Amino acid sequence: MSRLDVTESFQGIKFPGHMHTEESLNFATDFKFEETDTLIVTYPKSGTTWMQEILTLVLSKGDPTIAQSQPNWARAPWLEQYYCPEVLKASSGPRIITTHLPYHLLAPALQHCKAKVIYVARNVKDVCVSYYHFHKMANFLPDPGTFPEFLKNFLKGDVHYGSWFDHVNGWTGHAKNFQNFFYITYEEMFQDLRGSLQKVSHFLQCTLCKEELNLAEKHCSFNSMKENAMVNYTLIPKEIIDHSKGKFMRKGKVGDWKNMFTEEQSGLVDEVYFSQMADSSLLFQWDQ
Ligand code: A3P
Repeated sequence: MSRLDVTESFQGIKFPGHMHTEESLNFATDFKFEETDTLIVTYPKSGTTWMQEILTLVLSKGDPTIAQSQPNWARAPWLEQYYCPEVLKASSGPRIITTHLPYHLLAPALQHCKAKVIYVARNVKDVCVSYYHFHKMANFLPDPGTFPEFLKNFLKGDVHYGSWFDHVNGWTGHAKNFQNFFYITYEEMFQDLRGSLQKVSHFLQCTLCKEELNLAEKHCSFNSMKENAMVNYTLIPKEIIDHSKGKFMRKGKVGDWKNMFTEEQSGLVDEVYFSQMADSSLLFQWDQ
């Protein structure tokens, strides 16, 4: 099957051509955030879908009805994708919005913004492996080639949505500009889902009682989300995401990079990491 129209460039960053247009990207960069909005920000493959599910379950106080009846892109649309204005027009109540945009593209729209911003980061090696596998099944992304080829492009930032390093540094380095900024890692959510749900619910000022928390924890688990067609992307036509080539809910683990990286590749990423993250105080967990 031939790949879809995979590349559009906007201000130096590549985006999948079938989901993003100049108009949709301008809509995102000019967006008027409201105080009641919650914005999920991630580099791809860092736990975006997981956080969408967490927010849905926290705001519904553990009731899975919405999570099991509305696709994630309809309840937490990507700001930069072409269908977002329509979804937002139809929504009522506080909005959950998702974005993969790098900080510099959204900085003007977010100036003086009181919206809540949640940034989820994941260790770069697991992101790279997850992204590589996703490229193989997502026909809206270019053919990744071999893993060494993909890794080379990934480290250069020559992939869709740009460099992981720029994304993480851009957003976390400007956290102080936001009145309501919450940072969490995929690894923390993995180690302590219940504690993470509690932290998110505290940030949203939507405290859950024990039974509500039990329900939210159950429905945000990997096994539960894997079976939920509203988040596992099986609703998407095969021409766009081909589940015969892999699964969106693939492994859901910390440290899977060890099954893919050679020692040399791991050392190379460490070198780039230490040079590009030299000014960052973030700490990542690389292993379970
Ligand atoms: P893997 O490919 O390593 O399995 P995103 O939503 O940002 O595209 O991220 C997708 C990654 O998050 C995939 O990683 C997916 O399996 C993982 N994921 C999604 N929900 C999860 C959950 N409940 N628990 C653990 N990992 C989850």
